[in-house]
Amino acid sequence: MKKILITGSSGFIGFHLAKNLSKIYKVIGLDNHNNYYSKKIKKKRLSILKKNENFSFKKIDLKNKNELEKVFNKFKPSIVFHIAGQPGVLYSFKNPKSYKLNNTRTTDIVSNLCKKNNIEKFIFASSSSVYGDQKKFPIKEHFKVNPKNPYAKTKIESEKIIFKNLKKSKTDFLIFRFFTVYGSFGRPDMFIHKFLNSIKNKKTIKLHNKGMNFRDFTYIDDVVSILKMSINKKISKKILNICRSKPILTLDLVKMILKIYGVKKANLRETKFVKGEMLKTHGSNKNLRKYFGKIKFTDIKKGIKYTIKNYKLHKM
Ligand SMILES: NC(=O)c1ccc[n+]([C@@H]2O[C@H](COP(=O)([O-])OP(=O)(O)OC[C@H]3O[C@@H](n4cnc5c(N)ncnc54)[C@H](O)[C@@H]3O)[C@@H](O)[C@H]2O)c1
Repeated sequence: MKKILITGSSGFIGFHLAKNLSKIYKVIGLDNHNNYYSKKIKKKRLSILKKNENFSFKKIDLKNKNELEKVFNKFKPSIVFHIAGQPGVLYSFKNPKSYKLNNTRTTDIVSNLCKKNNIEKFIFASSSSVYGDQKKFPIKEHFKVNPKNPYAKTKIESEKIIFKNLKKSKTDFLIFRFFTVYGSFGRPDMFIHKFLNSIKNKKTIKLHNKGMNFRDFTYIDDVVSILKMSINKKISKKILNICRSKPILTLDLVKMILKIYGVKKANLRETKFVKGEMLKTHGSNKNLRKYFGKIKFTDIKKGIKYTIKNYKLHKM
């Protein structure tokens, strides 16, 4: 049985990936349960993962290279998914240091350990934010990056570090640029769960740029199935977008959520354009399909239905 190491396993994407992969692989999840958002949801995700005996967990800060090296030596993974990181666009203006440490620095440490241990494959979670605002759509991987915030800059630096550290190593690597991932147990700092919480708690939510931004929302199960396929793909040294390639206007998403949740109105407050945010994300998944074949992306209405159903069930 292949052994897989996943960083950020108590986070939104790492959790879903670990849950799926531990059905057929031996998985170790690593996370430091930082307090960027509520630890309650991280603990809940971990408690779900712990139900599977193929899954084990170690609470560790990836910046602690020596401790991490011990995990590599003991568990001996063949595949490493580096999903941990400091996300969030707006917070990156407030605390850029956290991004340097938890994105750039940890990527250097984890990728170097992969090289040292001749890991078969290293897979990295990058972001569509590296593109910033573009003039042409859909956005292809070769488009010139145009970071608008410190978060995006640390993702670009991380990508470069991976090429530098692993180019001449025995470790194959893939870099995926995720476009706004959503789904059950989603991040409470992102729009969909923020909105669901505001409906539940009858609180006001800000609608940045008067709801006129477009986002290429991508359902978590689709992301996980692509990451899973990548384990056995004989491709390396590639950067690929993961997106549905069908952006939706925030105002339309709001209407959809209200209808599916079953409420008529919410306390929305329109605000101006927010510095650092992109106006429109709309990625091309042509390259992804070239390497992974035909992918059936989940329709946004269906994805939102699942997300709201789970939200009502678990109250998170
Ligand atoms: N969710 C999205 O839409 C999206 C889009 C693009 C890129 N990404 C990237 O995907 C990755 C996962 O995102 P997510 O939405 O699951 O975020 P998340 O915050 O839910 O998960 C990240 C996890 O990493 C852990 N972590 C952070 N720094 C750590 C460290 N130094 N040591 C150990 N653990 C640490 C956190 O505690 C957290 O549980 C991130 O790198 C993010 O930048 C996410």
